[in-house]
Amino acid sequence: MCGIIGYTGKGDAPGIMLDALELLEYRGYDSAGIALLNEGKTQIVKCAGRVKDLRTLCAEGKPVGHCGIGHTRWATHGGVCDENAHPHRFGNVTLIHNGIIENYRELIDKYHLEGQLASETDSEVVAAVLQHFYQGDPYSAIRRTVLKLKGTFALAIMFDDQPDQIFAVRNVSPIVAAVTGDGAILSSDVAAIVPFTSDYFVMPEFHVVCLKPDGVEMFDLSGDKAEIEWQKVDWDVSRSGKAGYPFYMEKEIMEQPEVIRETILPRIKDGMPDFSEEGIPDHMLADCKRICVIACGTAMHAGLVGKSLIQAMIGIHVDVVMASEFMYNDPVVDKNTLVIAISQSGETIDTLEALKFARKCGSPSISIVNVKGASIARASEHVIYTCAGPEIAVASTKAYTTQLAVLYLITARMAMARGIWQEQQTRAYINELLRVPEVLERVLSTKEEIHRLADAVLNAHDVFMIGRGLDYSILLEGSLKLKEVSYIHSEAYASGELKHGTIALITEDTPVIAVVTQEKLKSKELSNIREVQSRGARVVLLIKESETLDEGEQWSCVYRLPKMDDPFMVMPASVVLQLIAYYVSLDKGLDVDKPRNLAKVVTVE
Ligand code: AGP
Repeated sequence: MCGIIGYTGKGDAPGIMLDALELLEYRGYDSAGIALLNEGKTQIVKCAGRVKDLRTLCAEGKPVGHCGIGHTRWATHGGVCDENAHPHRFGNVTLIHNGIIENYRELIDKYHLEGQLASETDSEVVAAVLQHFYQGDPYSAIRRTVLKLKGTFALAIMFDDQPDQIFAVRNVSPIVAAVTGDGAILSSDVAAIVPFTSDYFVMPEFHVVCLKPDGVEMFDLSGDKAEIEWQKVDWDVSRSGKAGYPFYMEKEIMEQPEVIRETILPRIKDGMPDFSEEGIPDHMLADCKRICVIACGTAMHAGLVGKSLIQAMIGIHVDVVMASEFMYNDPVVDKNTLVIAISQSGETIDTLEALKFARKCGSPSISIVNVKGASIARASEHVIYTCAGPEIAVASTKAYTTQLAVLYLITARMAMARGIWQEQQTRAYINELLRVPEVLERVLSTKEEIHRLADAVLNAHDVFMIGRGLDYSILLEGSLKLKEVSYIHSEAYASGELKHGTIALITEDTPVIAVVTQEKLKSKELSNIREVQSRGARVVLLIKESETLDEGEQWSCVYRLPKMDDPFMVMPASVVLQLIAYYVSLDKGLDVDKPRNLAKVVTVE
């Protein structure tokens, strides 16, 4: 998704913004640009391509100034080209935009902009409307423009005759802002602010913020001054950077034991699950008749594991709905449905809009979010923050396992709140959860062995991943990882379903990854594996270290997973699959952290 940066102060604005845009690259983009306001003149440098290409242009164009805005664009309206890159300028107005203006065509007609626009973007139309309303008062022009817009926007705006000032306004798309040692800064996410300060605030929607070299002011749309709610960055700044790893993805995979500890330990008091810090009342977990998990991608896969855990332990129905489908399938949610929204970024618009819809239907809501103060956290009644720290690689890993850790805690607390478990059973479950970090450390210590597993699929065009029940949920996530970072077509398939059609695709040497971790499913899963083996598949088997295998079986390779109670086997198996995907991408020489076409945060529907 688009990245936004704005800076005004005593510092070197071009250098500050270029560095910040590099910190935002992980969001995914295809063009970049900056604009500098200097002595009443605005200079724009922008191009299709990477931030490094923009740096080259800046080295030639030598933009100077202490006030500027910068942008990395993930194309929505209009192709990838220099003209469509941001910033956009119309008259005396220069701006950058993250989001989608749904009524931009109507605005073109209403303000007779046909033939006056240099780009194909909806963003330039906003600049033109601002110019239309601008008569010297930025607040008035912004208020009148915002009232005409339909859609989502995070806008950072400069007016030629407003020296050293940057104005911002948002709806849904995020903006955070801060005061630095020598000025003020805003961005689409806190990663770009962290190098300057740990104190920041999340801009509320439909408020106008003005950044000046000596500070920040905020007004509501009626023009009244508004109170800023400051907060602190809640992760260790020293954790930013790759810490010597070639890619963030490897670093983040390796961080999992530590961040799982940091996520669970504050929620375990005297060996029992405890959400008192989060203020989640037990009645919320005890009274709901069913649960609906709303999420996308990896977060949705975490929800599938949560479904298995809760249905097995609690006995209530859990729906897991991909957020982009939720509102379009006549969802049945009401006051008896507990909605759990899961999101690493807390800004995925599909999930945010679905959550808002569910709340309008009267559903109680809890969100599981990794970014403090994010929109989804603020849109839910209660939030449980994962403590994964900044997840920079587009492919989510540590966010996934910390989301799982929270779901284990919710399962245990729900079992207690409903009187299903007594103390002893709950304590035993939590003790097993507390073992997860050391088990993952064992898996991570075998990463070279896992690297060799990756060789089995390195040159494949198609890979199948087969399992049943919880193993199938594990593989849905493992398959997404492999697709995302290696571009190999991978398909997770319920192994019992294969014989109803898809087994037709299994031929000699088809690579198949099989996961067998659930005692009650083992014999059926092994039968399904033999079905694909008899058709020539080369099977990579992930199975508990305690299992004995028939010596006569022909396995392409077997990885022995450290043993845990069956519900917790998700954790070691998932980390092995993360590493397989990582090593395939690494050995293919791909950009592991920034896969083609992908964005880290999807803020468009
Ligand atoms: C995960 O590897 C993907 N990058 C993607 O599926 C991601 O999980 C999804 O977009 C949801 O993002 P969120 O957790 O920030 O809401």
